Amino acid sequence: MSVINYSEKIPNNVNLSEDRTLQRALEQWQPNFINWWDDMGPEGSTDMDVYLRTAVSVDPQGWAQFGHVKMRDYRWGVFLNPGEEGRRIHFGDNIGEKVWQDVPGEHRANLRRIIVTQGDTEPASVEQQRHLGLTAPSMYDLRNLFQINVEEGRHLWAMVYLLHKYFGKDGREEADALLQRNSGNEDNPRILQAFNEKTPDWLSFFMFTYFTDRDGKFQLCALAESAFDPLARTTKFMLTEEAHHMFVGESGVSRTIQRTVDVMNELKTDDVAKLREAGVIDLPTIQRYINFHFSVTIDLFGADESSNAATFYSSGLKGRYEEGKRADDHVLKGNSYKILSVEGGKLVEKEVPMLNALNEVLRDDYINDSKGGIERWNRVIEKAGIPFKLKAPHKAFHRNIGSLSGAKITPDGEVVTDEKWMAKVGEWLPSNEDRAYVASLMGRVVEPGKFANWISPPVMGINRQPVNFDYVRFN
Ligand SMILES: [Fe+2]
Ligand SMILES: [Fe+2]
Repeated sequence: MSVINYSEKIPNNVNLSEDRTLQRALEQWQPNFINWWDDMGPEGSTDMDVYLRTAVSVDPQGWAQFGHVKMRDYRWGVFLNPGEEGRRIHFGDNIGEKVWQDVPGEHRANLRRIIVTQGDTEPASVEQQRHLGLTAPSMYDLRNLFQINVEEGRHLWAMVYLLHKYFGKDGREEADALLQRNSGNEDNPRILQAFNEKTPDWLSFFMFTYFTDRDGKFQLCALAESAFDPLARTTKFMLTEEAHHMFVGESGVSRTIQRTVDVMNELKTDDVAKLREAGVIDLPTIQRYINFHFSVTIDLFGADESSNAATFYSSGLKGRYEEGKRADDHVLKGNSYKILSVEGGKLVEKEVPMLNALNEVLRDDYINDSKGGIERWNRVIEKAGIPFKLKAPHKAFHRNIGSLSGAKITPDGEVVTDEKWMAKVGEWLPSNEDRAYVASLMGRVVEPGKFANWISPPVMGINRQPVNFDYVRFN
């Protein structure tokens, strides 16, 4: 079970060859996927050999192998964690019953929607990041970008497998549509707004992989609890791959900060103009990028009150983060939860039924988790002896969904007038000048062991290779 069969056209650990109809359907989808990769995948990367990890097993110890491969020859496939003998539904109205190996008719539409929404984000991020290779700050970073891109492609496969296997003709149509929508496309955009935004520069990329891939982690964790066992098993394996994406984000921002504080100490200044002259990204700009990516990402959890969230939970489709570790009845009827809204020019808390607030519960768990990295970034600044602290903005800041949508609230959580918002927003969110400045730093540095001026080298290479290893061969 844990070993992956690589002798077939589509690598898999689900005995694909025993289901000829499914195998044929997926083999027909495969060339469309490759066409999509050629059209929408990393620009100008066709001839490169990239030092990539490929899953060879789903055993957490030693699941991957590394080697130089052309990305379009990457062995994308279908890998599920092994099933758990006798697994039972552990939350919602059907608690205690056997998990489902097939889709119950009454939950079919909701499950399809959940899988399509998750599946849509995977190729979307590849599309958002497709130009970044042209401005990589190092060969090491270029390799990490490509690793994330091929794995998001693999995550698409994970969702497409479920659609093809369990949803018949509708599933196949949805799988085709996942390759037809495109990030930012006016006529046929991706489903979620954050995945239609541009990822224009590498600071945005690092912020995206720290904050937005972490949203992916929380969604996948909630789906890994699902009563629909194949969904639980496939998302568990996706989480194994996901950890590296957030590492790239956290360490990327950390290295950016390291370089900035080094130059601040060298020049003995915190003057933004002087630091920009020296070609590094000043800390207030980094704070504004945090504010932007944090607020856009927490919108992805959806409206703070949602009857869909209640339905998904009660029917066992989607659990909470770490559902199994919580000490309550896992049914949640009669429980309440606090959400925020603006009343009389002030932020107020109100109690609502917890089942309806499960998006907010997941958002709050996400917020706690994402603050950890910000604290680790602060340690870099502190170590350099610089009195500056980065922080997560208030969760009501710059929101576009739910009861806080469109409210004018500062990063400190103060409700302000439209005039004050307009006057101050340049201090809170990246301005056009900030973005143009960051863009101006994006040259291409790809000689082994060399790094762009605005970022420090990593402490270690990938898979114990040296930092100056030839991670990408350009041929
Ligand atoms: Fe993903
Ligand atoms: Fe990811």
